Amino acid sequence: MLSRNVTVTGLQWGDEGKGKVVDALAGACRYVARYCGGANAGHPVRLAGETFALHLIPCGILHKNVVNVVANGVAFDPEVACEEIEQLRARGVRVGPENLRISSAAHVVMPYHKLQDSLSEQGLGSGKIGTTARGIGPCYADKANRSTAIRVGELIDSAALREKVRSLVDIKNRLFQALYGTEPLDGKEIADSCAEYGRRLAPMITDTGTILRKAVAAGEPVLFEGGQGAMLDVDHGTYPFVTSSSVSACGVPAGAGVAPSAVGRVVGVIKAYTSRVGAGPFPTEQDNEIGDRIRERGHEYGTTTGRPRRCGWLDLMAVRYTAEFSGVDELALSLLDVLSGLEEVKICTGYLIDGEPVDGFDPSLLGRVACEYETLAGWSKDIGACRKFEDLPAEAQAYVERIEQLVGRPVGVIGVGADREQTIIHHTNLRDFS
Ligand code: IMP
Repeated sequence: MLSRNVTVTGLQWGDEGKGKVVDALAGACRYVARYCGGANAGHPVRLAGETFALHLIPCGILHKNVVNVVANGVAFDPEVACEEIEQLRARGVRVGPENLRISSAAHVVMPYHKLQDSLSEQGLGSGKIGTTARGIGPCYADKANRSTAIRVGELIDSAALREKVRSLVDIKNRLFQALYGTEPLDGKEIADSCAEYGRRLAPMITDTGTILRKAVAAGEPVLFEGGQGAMLDVDHGTYPFVTSSSVSACGVPAGAGVAPSAVGRVVGVIKAYTSRVGAGPFPTEQDNEIGDRIRERGHEYGTTTGRPRRCGWLDLMAVRYTAEFSGVDELALSLLDVLSGLEEVKICTGYLIDGEPVDGFDPSLLGRVACEYETLAGWSKDIGACRKFEDLPAEAQAYVERIEQLVGRPVGVIGVGADREQTIIHHTNLRDFS
């Protein structure tokens, strides 16, 4: 068992390979808790010879003796959750109140949120955010608005729920008709399906804040599983091209109902390069054959939407910033194998505006910066079979060491392939990394 809590958080624009890190640590934890985002996340898992994506259920579900928590900060889509639970059960995975707890204070993603997400994006045309169309933004907007929100706990009281849903659908219909000229949604149908999801999920719906605070007080290790990446954080990312929740480690206390001191050791996950899906500034993007090569070798297509991801060099200006405000203790470097075969590899070490170096890091300036790069020698050897740092080619070792120097944090583990065992334990302080 881990001797303390751990938070696993992405430091780029999502898809950093957090799932593999969570999977490696989950078995040493008592609880795995999601604290932000919703079904916009996608963690591919292989079960019974098939691959499918977990969007809402924490991946600790695949480990025995782990209680999985969908905490209050999550935008919870009951339709997706029920589907995932059924898929898992069909493959022999036990899912029930003994290993899955869903916060009654999490907010429900309704069908009209998903519709609004798509309509709003269509309306924005070329200025669109490029969302996953999972209804995330509209759900959090209703959370902040309060009077138009539904929390998971409300799914259980079917009489009150039906009345509320019908009145909210009526409000949304009037809004959508006025703004987009859409046909009205059927309030009764939506109310019926919500009541049915509530009936199915009721045994798992509870006050997860109390569960997590008790675990923390008893010293039972909790892993907080982040979604997306800190450059997509609603406050600290490349606004407005961000998601709508606090995805960094700073989001843990509010999103899970625990004290800031419960965050524990923070593992910041980065790819050996950078990718981004959706619109927004991306200073190190390589919209050329380098980017294409990385995309193909790294299978850089969205888990949730299948969209091709934009790819580019490792941006350590961004990583240094996100590592700093997320309080990162150690890095987990994923997908180093994807860079094998490149003659040279580049790291962005500085930004310039009008030829002048940029001091500090202001995400709102990212659309205007030019990058300063440091160029390192590449390596040709396939590194998928390396299991020790010393097995890596000298050039790959130098690349990792330069990352440690420039970010000022140790690289705890290095991923050299998708399989669990394709991991090099390096400077981690977490002895339970398996
Ligand atoms: P939303 O979260 O669906 O509203 O999308 C807002 C932005 O965040 C878009 O650029 C999405 O592509 C991006 N995004 C949301 N979730 C993820 C994720 O899990 N990985 C990568 N990008 C994401």
